[in-house]
Amino acid sequence: MTTAILSALAEEQQGLIELLREPRRVARAGREFWLGELHGTPVVLALSRIGKVAAATTTTTLIEAFGVQRLIFTGVAGGIGPGVQVGDVVVASEFVQHDMDASPLFPRYQIPLYDRERFACDIALGEALLAASRASLESLALPATVHHGLIASGDRFVSAAEEARALHAALSNAGHAPLAVEMEGAAVAQVCHDYAIPYAAVRTISDRADDSAHVDFPQFVTEVASRYALAIIDEFVRELNKSSARGV
Ligand code: ADE
Repeated sequence: MTTAILSALAEEQQGLIELLREPRRVARAGREFWLGELHGTPVVLALSRIGKVAAATTTTTLIEAFGVQRLIFTGVAGGIGPGVQVGDVVVASEFVQHDMDASPLFPRYQIPLYDRERFACDIALGEALLAASRASLESLALPATVHHGLIASGDRFVSAAEEARALHAALSNAGHAPLAVEMEGAAVAQVCHDYAIPYAAVRTISDRADDSAHVDFPQFVTEVASRYALAIIDEFVRELNKSSARGV
């Protein structure tokens, strides 16, 4: 079974490419895909690119052209839930699009013709990512919290405290209180839903989506995010490989 590992940032992907056995680079849809084996598991590594459409194209290509059968996403996000701090990790249970609004034709946040506002992640893969996140934060001796819950995606970098507060309040009032905000996850979830591909996602919190987000984000990305993502995915794939060896 081939597993896709989608990274949001080149910094996160670099360490994974270095761990690949027999790496092979393939160009498709204006993107680069890295094929190889990670701890005995066949993988395809790709960059999601930024925003919902770009991430959907990458995901569709992974499924249609490379035949991946499950998909893991690593990236960074802005923390907007109470108690979700810079350096924490959020494993997604579900995704909502905070910028979806086809009202009054469809209820606010509902994805037209899908009759739903949220797409759920695969439970077993999510549990495995949670375990890998906890284990790797412990081994890196980082006093961060691992959260599990709803993530909101939209084509907007949220970088004002007032906007983050309003976004959180509007979603919460509609019954979709999110822990974090980013720009790709819900699109990947929708494509995986269409193809019935199991999907799970982990995001490290790079900023609080507030007035200093534009400063915190690049600093975190270069200094911390790649170390986190590498440690979590390394641990996750090792466990995946052990479980497949046991036939689970
Ligand atoms: N990814 C990381 N931080 C973000 C933010 N503040 N808004 C949207 N996407 C993000």
